[in-house]
Amino acid sequence: MKLAIGCDHGGINLKPILLDHLDKKKIEYVDFGCFDKSSVDYNDYAEKVCSAVTSGECDLGILICGTGIGMSIVANKIKGIRCGHCSDVFSAKMTREHNDANVLAFGERVVGPGLMIEIVEAFLNTEFSNGERHVNRVNKIKALEERNFK
Ligand code: RB5
Repeated sequence: MKLAIGCDHGGINLKPILLDHLDKKKIEYVDFGCFDKSSVDYNDYAEKVCSAVTSGECDLGILICGTGIGMSIVANKIKGIRCGHCSDVFSAKMTREHNDANVLAFGERVVGPGLMIEIVEAFLNTEFSNGERHVNRVNKIKALEERNFK
């Protein structure tokens, strides 16, 4: 599994802690920035990460900004992306199990390092349930994308 990771300046302190965790677990990733505390637009990093997921370069994406909200709004505008904005472990598990989310977003000003690791672990270690009702709902999301996005 290869992950696409991105943050803005609002997530710049949590990202190295996440990367260190992934290194220790020998989980491959591409770091799409940002790389310092200068003010940047979360839009650009969400787009880079989501493009890596939709192109197949990476399997899943993780986005960190101040709240996780801006990143998740942008991510969910991109065709093929289902981004779960999760500040708790239960939601991180369920967004994989029920929504087949391929991107996770959270906020550095909301979750601390310990909770972040648990959220990420829940996201990475949960499979889509493949239950008929969930497949049907994800297919309806895809049909909605076809109707509304180029
Ligand atoms: C940046 O100040 C902040 O707005 C951003 O990181 C994020 O929280 C937006 O949703």
